[in-house]
Amino acid sequence: MRQVLRAFLFLVCTASFPSAEARGADDTPFVIGFSQATTTEPWRLLFNKELRTEAAKYPEIELIVRDGQDDAQKQFADVEEFIEKRVDIILISPKVAGALTPVVNRAFDMGIPIIVLDRDLANQRYTQFIGGDNKLIGRTAGKYAVSRLGGAGKASGNIVEIWGGMKSTPAQDRHEGFAQVIFEEPGIRSLDVARDGDWKQDLGYEIMADALERFDRIDLVYAHNDPMAYGAYLAAEDAGREDAIVFLGIDGIPAEGVRWVHEGVLTATFLYMTPGAEGIRQAVKLLRGEKIQPRVTLPTMTIDRSNAEEILLLHGLIGDEEKDRTEGRSKRVAARASMPLGPSGGVR
Ligand code: FRU
Repeated sequence: MRQVLRAFLFLVCTASFPSAEARGADDTPFVIGFSQATTTEPWRLLFNKELRTEAAKYPEIELIVRDGQDDAQKQFADVEEFIEKRVDIILISPKVAGALTPVVNRAFDMGIPIIVLDRDLANQRYTQFIGGDNKLIGRTAGKYAVSRLGGAGKASGNIVEIWGGMKSTPAQDRHEGFAQVIFEEPGIRSLDVARDGDWKQDLGYEIMADALERFDRIDLVYAHNDPMAYGAYLAAEDAGREDAIVFLGIDGIPAEGVRWVHEGVLTATFLYMTPGAEGIRQAVKLLRGEKIQPRVTLPTMTIDRSNAEEILLLHGLIGDEEKDRTEGRSKRVAARASMPLGPSGGVR
C-alpha cells in the first residue's frame, strides 16, 4: 500500500523525481524533512515541540529536523541535504523569502511535495502554505492602537514601530496591516525608527533606547513580536518612561507574551499560533493520498487584561489564589479562543 502511495505522490508532483519509486519495502516509514529557520526565540521552540509531539502520533513517519541557526545559507544547505536524502516531503519555515526560494523551487520541480510554514517564499511554487494572517493581525493591532490613543477619528499620539526581519513576509504583512489603519488617523504620527529588529529582544531594546533619546514623546510601541516589545519595555523602564507608553506585541505564547500582559508589561499581544502540529497533520494527509488545500490560515485573537489571566489559568501558569477568582470564566475564554489549548503553556 505504501508503495502505491509513494507512486501516487510521485505522479501528482512531477514525473521526474525518483525517490518515491526508489524507496524500500512497504514497511519503511515515510520521511518528513523539516527545515526550521532558527531556534533562538521561545516561539520557535514551541513550534518544534508541537511539531514533534504531533509527529510522534504517526508510526508511519520518520521526522528529520534541521535548525538553520538563523542563517539563510545554513538553511539552504539543510534543504539541499533533504533533496539528496530524497525525503518524501519537505516542511520549511524559511528565515527569509528571497534567499530560500530557489532551493525550495528546485526541490518542488524535482517532485518533492513542499509545505511552507509561517513565513512565505517569493513565489507559490510549493504544495501548501500554513500560517497566520499577518495582515489581519497588523490591522487588529492598528485598531487596538487607535482605540488606546483616543478612538477612531480622534486618536492622537506618537508611535514607534519595531520591525521583525524586514526580508520576511510576516514583518512586511504586519507592517502593512497596521499602516493601513494608522494612515486613516491624522492625529497619529509614526516616528522614523525604521531599523530591522530581526525579531530579537536585544535589538528591540536598542531601537527603543535610541528612540527614547531622540523623541520626548512616545505614546505607543508596536513591536512585530513579543520579545522585541519586551526589550522595548526594558529600555523605557531604564529611562523611567515605561508608565507613559502602551506596549503591543505579537505571538501570545502563554509563558511569554500572555504572562507579560498579565504582569502589566505589555498592554496587549495578538495570538500567532505556531503551524507545527498542523504542518504534520497536513503532511500525513498528503502521504495518505488525500487532497490538501493550497493554503491553511491559522486563527488569531487579541490578548489583553480582559483575558490574559484566564489563559494563564487554562495553562496552569497561575497559582490557586488567582485561580479561585477566575475559575468560572475560564471556559468562556477557551470558547472565544476557538481552538484547543496545548500542553505545558503551548497553544496548539
Ligand atoms: C520567531 C518569530 C516569532 C514571529 C515569527 C514570524 O522566530 O520571530 O516571534 O511571530 O517568527 O515569522
